[in-house]
Amino acid sequence: MISDNILKVENLYFSYNKSNDYILEKISFSLNRSEILVILGQSGCGKTTLFKNLLGLLKPQKGKIYIENEVLEPSSKKKLKRYYHKIGVLFQSGALLNSLSIYENLKLPLDENTHLSEPLKDIMINLKLKWVGLAHAKNLMPSELSGGMKKRVALVRAIILDPKILFFDEPHSGLDPIVTSDINKLILRIRDAFKISMVVITHDMNSALFLADKLLMLKDGKTHFYGTKSEFENIVKSDEYINEFVNVSTANLNNNNSNKHK
Ligand SMILES: Nc1ncnc2c1ncn2[C@@H]1O[C@H](COP(=O)(O)OP(=O)(O)OP(=O)(O)O)[C@@H](O)[C@H]1O
Ligand SMILES: [Mg+2]
Repeated sequence: MISDNILKVENLYFSYNKSNDYILEKISFSLNRSEILVILGQSGCGKTTLFKNLLGLLKPQKGKIYIENEVLEPSSKKKLKRYYHKIGVLFQSGALLNSLSIYENLKLPLDENTHLSEPLKDIMINLKLKWVGLAHAKNLMPSELSGGMKKRVALVRAIILDPKILFFDEPHSGLDPIVTSDINKLILRIRDAFKISMVVITHDMNSALFLADKLLMLKDGKTHFYGTKSEFENIVKSDEYINEFVNVSTANLNNNNSNKHK
């Protein structure tokens, strides 16, 4: 039987210094095909550390990560390579290569990871660029793009190899609310069209609730909340910690908006 489970984390513990001072403790969650998990929590609670564990860049001291029911083993280069063919990553900075055009930035992963013919690569790049409304920009350099356009190109690059899971660390950082909303709609469109599962780290509460099927909220490296969006919404008023987090996040957003109009 084909399992719908794409990513499963079981009882994960992680420490940077091999002591028992765990940065992450007893983290468990699972993600099915086409689901979006949003990871939330205050600065320093361990979100990026968890992200790096999920990418095989850090190795947990205890616990296991399963990708399509296969254990992720960061020490096995062969397995890691196979894993990297199944995932797409969008880092906070977007990280396009500045010396390459948009077209060349998108072609690079295809050149490095596939044996497709040149005309087929060309079709894939043009189709996906058209899909995000950037067909006209393919010969531009990254420095000639706005922040929102760069994010869209970075998104195309992250899905160019048709991944099963997309990982985003703060995809909204540095974007204004309108562009943030456009990017969120695009993220959902990509999920729906390609049935990709996604893990999204964000500080932006509106985006979290717009995107999430499930939420994981960390507090000092431990799970404060894990559940569906409606479970989260039901608990917001009664859970003091979540309530404050939501209020502060929304207040920050309003402040940023009013500053932008000054
Ligand atoms: N390379 C490292 N070596 C040692 N400690 C680290 C390292 N990277 C992060 N830490 C510590 O791990 C903790 C969690 O950091 P992490 O970057 O995962 O937080 P975060 O939730 O992503 O925060 P932010 O929202 O600010 O990005 C912090 O206390 C941080 O100081
Ligand atoms: Mg971080």
